[in-house]
Amino acid sequence: MAVDLLLGLQWGDEGKGKIVDVLTSKYDIIARFQGGPNAGHTLEFDGQKHVLHTIPSGIFHDNSVNLVGNGVVIDPVIFKKELDNLAKHNIDYRSKLLISRKAHLILPTHRLLDAASEASKGKAKIGSTLKGIGPTYMDKTGRNGLRVGDLELEDWKERYRALADKHEKMIAFYDVEIQYNLKELEKEFWTAVETLKELTFIDSEEYLHQAMKDGKSILAEGAQGSLLDIDFGTYPFVTSSNTTAAGACTGLGVAPREIGEAFGIFKAYTTRVGSGPFPTELFDEVGEKMGRIGNEFGATTGRKRRCGWLDLVALKYAVQVNGITQLIMMKGDVLSGFDTLKVCTAYKYKGEEITHLPYNIEPENLQPVYTEVKGWKEDLTKMTDAESLPKEFNDYVDFLEKELETPITIVSVGPDRKQTIKR
Ligand code: IMP
Repeated sequence: MAVDLLLGLQWGDEGKGKIVDVLTSKYDIIARFQGGPNAGHTLEFDGQKHVLHTIPSGIFHDNSVNLVGNGVVIDPVIFKKELDNLAKHNIDYRSKLLISRKAHLILPTHRLLDAASEASKGKAKIGSTLKGIGPTYMDKTGRNGLRVGDLELEDWKERYRALADKHEKMIAFYDVEIQYNLKELEKEFWTAVETLKELTFIDSEEYLHQAMKDGKSILAEGAQGSLLDIDFGTYPFVTSSNTTAAGACTGLGVAPREIGEAFGIFKAYTTRVGSGPFPTELFDEVGEKMGRIGNEFGATTGRKRRCGWLDLVALKYAVQVNGITQLIMMKGDVLSGFDTLKVCTAYKYKGEEITHLPYNIEPENLQPVYTEVKGWKEDLTKMTDAESLPKEFNDYVDFLEKELETPITIVSVGPDRKQTIKR
């Protein structure tokens, strides 16, 4: 069977965790393919809220296997905290959680390097989550990294020491004030590594290949969003992995021809956390209201997210780069109560109107051009079927669907599993 994809189409935080959880009953295997604990996937059901960082969002369902693929970077310390939290909720994760031997490990010194690199950038900082993501992927592409499979080697500790010592020299090179006690950090790390070693490590590309042959259904769960992609995002204000569809192929060892549906998920408006350009950002009470009602605070860092109108130019770009076949619109409920809504349908770029995402979207070159549509007053959070949705809401969705030339098949009207409407 084909591998379906679930991808965030904006700057992350679109609500992937909730939708994977909703879709999981349809799939035998849920596989994460990139990113690491910089992600925060939030799931709400039975009156409880859960946040996952590295573990796939299918873990709360009994019948699905959850795979952490080779493209993911794992911090054993954060991973252990996630496992402890699952154990607290009586989730038997051992029987349904598999880890690729080829996934790279985030060491305590990777986190310190992240902090040193950001501190050295001053005002030009990326706004990283400081989870060591960039330095770990740098070691991966620089061919210096340590992988999960290395934990099974006799000389693992020597390999660790050699890399950590090298990192310490690099931290000193940055010449910034970073306070740390590596001994303490390592104590926590070694304990967490022992917990990680109790899990099942596999050659995951082989496992997935066999699963496909056996007719198993697979959902590849993306993290972050297309505009944070290392190649296609708003570089350098991006993360260090390919968050787009191609990342699922390299991050799981799945061939392009095996990809089936590509579900693209977006919010009815736009948010961004961290630095970098954001053409439709609002600095007024409208943006403030979106942030307040939408509870726009990072699930990983608690940082306030920047809010703005929906940017259809950027969204179209993401649909194109990913080959999206179905769209899922989140947080429609947050837009209730506005008389009119604005949607960015073009940019004024160096005096000319354009409808594509140019190389440079810095505000000095580019301003959004808006189309206004009618808003709705009704509270959507109690609505359970497409028929009860207000006309203006349906008009908004129809307008987006037409512009994006892709069907919007699910709309979400609240954080709970139940607040999900199929169209
Ligand atoms: P890093 O991946 O932690 O280095 O962060 C790089 C940029 O991506 C920063 O602007 C972060 O705020 C952003 N970022 C990383 N992961 C996420 C995410 O899961 N959601 C939203 N933004 C993220």
